[in-house]
Amino acid sequence: METLKRLEEIEKAGLDTLQQAADETALQAWKVTHLGRSSAVMTVFSQLPQLPKDERPAVGQRANLVKQALESAYTIRSQALKEAALNLALQSERLDVTLPGRRLIPGRLHLETRTLREVYRLFGEMGFQVYRSPDVETDDNNFGLLNIPEYHPARDMWDTFHTQTPGVVLRTHTSPGQIRAMREYAPEPIRVILPGMCYRYEQVTVRADIQFYQVEVLAVGRHITFGNLKGTLTEFARRMYGVDVRLRFRPSYFPFTEPSAELDVECFICGGLGCPVCKNSGWLEILGCGMIHPVVLQNGGYDPREFSGFAAGMGTGRVSMLRHRIDDIRNLWLNDIRFLEQF
Ligand code: DAH
Repeated sequence: METLKRLEEIEKAGLDTLQQAADETALQAWKVTHLGRSSAVMTVFSQLPQLPKDERPAVGQRANLVKQALESAYTIRSQALKEAALNLALQSERLDVTLPGRRLIPGRLHLETRTLREVYRLFGEMGFQVYRSPDVETDDNNFGLLNIPEYHPARDMWDTFHTQTPGVVLRTHTSPGQIRAMREYAPEPIRVILPGMCYRYEQVTVRADIQFYQVEVLAVGRHITFGNLKGTLTEFARRMYGVDVRLRFRPSYFPFTEPSAELDVECFICGGLGCPVCKNSGWLEILGCGMIHPVVLQNGGYDPREFSGFAAGMGTGRVSMLRHRIDDIRNLWLNDIRFLEQF
């Protein structure tokens, strides 16, 4: 009974090699070899008809037992491998739910951005739109057309960064935007604010930086008076600093306005008593303003006999400093995260 002996070997070989199948791929390969259609045990079945008739029942039975033995061994091995894989995964992917979570650090708006947006909102409520103008300006827009000719001593008020292109400067104030807005809108009435970064070639101190934001205010129309200027700017200051804030308009000089003034608010730090921040005056200057000079109106395309207007320019750094009691303006653009995170 050679076949029976062979079946025994088939079973032994199958069971032995099964123990060497260490992963799912090897296990599947084993299954094809030992239980597949052309495996040894299946070949015994297909060759059954060629055996002598009296041998067939015994061989058939035995072949069935071998096949079953291999099948159940396969199932057990397969489950064992799966379990081992699961255990490994549980080990290596273990989560320690007691570990502290990672802190999320959300981005935030820069203090100056928030101040600017508040200024936009307050003027927006009074009917002013935002008008953008470039940081790099012509000498003409920055000075000449604002009634500050080349030889004029008033140029000393603005220490200027010049570019390598003659006649092109970094704007020293947002006032050149007035010329751009007027030339775009003339002869229609105008009510805009012009925000932007300004640059001055100056000594950096706790009170003055070489770059800073300004917001320019511009209103042009047929019946605009100094009363409108006072009313608008007073309303703005009250909305910005509180209805009870004490204000004063003080005469001043700017080449592009006549008459000109500056607006002071009482010093918040000392309550008007006098301190280093207000240089013992009890007042802080927040903006320059005035009735637009006829020459500037004309340069903007308006006939000064028919039109009038007011303008103002304020630095927002001062506003941010006052509201948060910041004692050094350089903090604004140092980008020190420890400073910025406070707001
Ligand atoms: N441009 C001036 C400055 O930077 C501020 C200023 C004063 C703007 C009077 C104005 C104005 O529009 O009317 O110092």
